[in-house]
Amino acid sequence: MGEKVKRISVTIPENLFKEFEEATHAIGYKKRSKAISDAIQKFVADYRILNQIKTGSCAGTITYLYKHDIKGLTDTLTEIQHKYMDIISATLHVHLDEENCLETLSVKGNVNKAKSLIQKLKTLKTENVQYILIPQP
Ligand code: NI
Ligand code: NI
Repeated sequence: MGEKVKRISVTIPENLFKEFEEATHAIGYKKRSKAISDAIQKFVADYRILNQIKTGSCAGTITYLYKHDIKGLTDTLTEIQHKYMDIISATLHVHLDEENCLETLSVKGNVNKAKSLIQKLKTLKTENVQYILIPQP
């Protein structure tokens, strides 16, 4: 390949590592580094897609899972939703089971605000933050 490589060391939750190992074996990766490299590539691609919509208005949805018993998480989510109330038109909350909640936010308005909301949600202990943003004329 001749590509320059960089050696990194990371600290991640043990459970996440276990799931990662299971997934890489199931998919058939021979090298852990290759699997991690692919995962990082996906992360970067996701970031790029979000930054492709530069300015203007958008409409769409943001969906994520979270465990409501994680200390302070529900409060933080409520605070964020109030802070971004000018672009959140509705919140749908579904109690999936004893511990898991699914929330879908309907967003409409400035695309940079929507992007900043998504990025904020991704940094919390939420899981699987997914979104669809459609540019508006
Ligand atoms: Ni409220
Ligand atoms: Ni709930």
